[in-house]
Amino acid sequence: MQNLSKLAVIGAGKMGETLIKALLEAKMLAADGIVATAKHAPRVEDIAKRLGVPTTLDNRAAIQSADVILLCVKPQALRDVLAEIKPVIGNDQLVISIAASATTSFIERHLEMAVPVVRAMPNTPTLVNAGMTALCRGVHATDEHLKRARQIFDAVGRSLIIDEKYMDAVTALSASGPAYIYIILEALAEGGVKVGLPRHIATELASQMCLGAAKMVLETGAHPALLKDAVTTPAGCTIDGILQLEEGGLRVTLIKAVVEATRRAAQLIES
Ligand SMILES: NC(=O)c1ccc[n+]([C@@H]2O[C@H](COP(=O)([O-])OP(=O)(O)OC[C@H]3O[C@@H](n4cnc5c(N)ncnc54)[C@H](OP(=O)(O)O)[C@@H]3O)[C@@H](O)[C@H]2O)c1
Repeated sequence: MQNLSKLAVIGAGKMGETLIKALLEAKMLAADGIVATAKHAPRVEDIAKRLGVPTTLDNRAAIQSADVILLCVKPQALRDVLAEIKPVIGNDQLVISIAASATTSFIERHLEMAVPVVRAMPNTPTLVNAGMTALCRGVHATDEHLKRARQIFDAVGRSLIIDEKYMDAVTALSASGPAYIYIILEALAEGGVKVGLPRHIATELASQMCLGAAKMVLETGAHPALLKDAVTTPAGCTIDGILQLEEGGLRVTLIKAVVEATRRAAQLIES
């Protein structure tokens, strides 16, 4: 991969591991081009064993030979990690953070140096190469930095460059969103079970249907309302189902879920 010869993944938890796996599978980096850290020894041992990448508990050592530093710790751990790496970081290194809530200015301020910072918000479907990642850049990052960061996330799905002011909304919609969809999917499958379908068949029907509906929106570019109208035959059965959804307040509930999660996404870290 161009311009990404050595990557340090600081905090190789669920998301860090997902990204490492994806980069290895896409052959964008070899195992010896990555170094991963975690807080506890069992975690680094597990990562080293399963993914074959070098690991360490020492964040400073990990970033020393890295061109790109991918911060994958929880928002609450970020301040300490930034303080730890500050003395050894250089402004020729690119910092990419996937921590929810942590703004590029928060990271720049805590590093106390003109380091290029890109903030990214991926989601767990990156694990199956169907991720959605939004990226934005800090004041010292150039278009080239953004391009380098984007390469990582393009290996695991789609990506978008956005203005940082939208990042909490992105967190609430596409990063938290898989959880909402799993609930919807599970509930639809329960509906199938209620009307007599075996559970495994109901779950497969609901899952492939969700995948297909999302694909229709992305690939046709049609407004979801138009696609919905195409399914809804006058006096048919779909309109009876829709009536139940409207009575149950599905739309307003989903809108409120995104609004409330956006509010919370802004509060996960203190400035
Ligand atoms: N999960 C998602 O759907 C999702 C989506 C988008 C963005 N994110 C963001 O991704 C980040 C990670 O989330 P996650 O779900 O992957 O969390 P996680 O599984 O808890 O991973 C966090 C990792 O950070 C390590 N860690 C903690 N303190 C450290 C330190 N001082 N130095 C080095 N490593 C340290 C932990 O090590 P140990 O395992 O040894 O304790 C753990 O492996 C969060 O900031 C979150 O906002 C998550």
